[in-house]
Amino acid sequence: MASGSGSNFEALVQACRSGQLAASVCQLVVNNPGCGAEQRAGRLGVPCTLHDHRLFPNRESLDQALINSFQAAAVDLVVMAGWMRIVTQALIDAYPQRLVNIHPSLLPSFRGARAIEQALEAGVQLSGCTAHLVSLEVDTGPILVQAAVPVLKGDSAASLAARIHTQEHQILPLAVQLAAERLGLTALDQG
Ligand code: GRF
Repeated sequence: MASGSGSNFEALVQACRSGQLAASVCQLVVNNPGCGAEQRAGRLGVPCTLHDHRLFPNRESLDQALINSFQAAAVDLVVMAGWMRIVTQALIDAYPQRLVNIHPSLLPSFRGARAIEQALEAGVQLSGCTAHLVSLEVDTGPILVQAAVPVLKGDSAASLAARIHTQEHQILPLAVQLAAERLGLTALDQG
């Protein structure tokens, strides 16, 4: 699931293709037509489905469309790789312990939107990223993997985001591996 540039989506695809992660990314869903993630899926040859949230009356109906897509593709595990929508209990219940999110802060600090700006405004010397299982409350849920990065003097939101992104691409495949191991999935479905 991706809404924006899709660099985490691509990192997952590459981790699978390099053999680092015993899984395959069988489907991307996006909510923003023409977003970077959709373009990357085209380049990488990963099937992409658009579920434009603007065309759904509420969050529940969007999530039900997502569930239908995932069930049609028989996915084992779902990753919110930069999904900028709040998800509902329906999606969480459809993929218990199988829904992973990546967030650009060291949770529980700086939940929600603008996490990188929040860290800069707070003046912390250390920030980072967190991959975690999804609970109903935004950016909570059991933590799978975290990586820390320094906040450097003179950092802008863009420079700190770039440093965090590099780490996100490292920890997201690890988090998927861990989530799969917790579920007893030795090798995620290659289909
Ligand atoms: C990442 O910083 C992620 O932590 C946040 O959204 C961003 C997505 O970046 N949830 P990308 O689209 O994967 O490049």
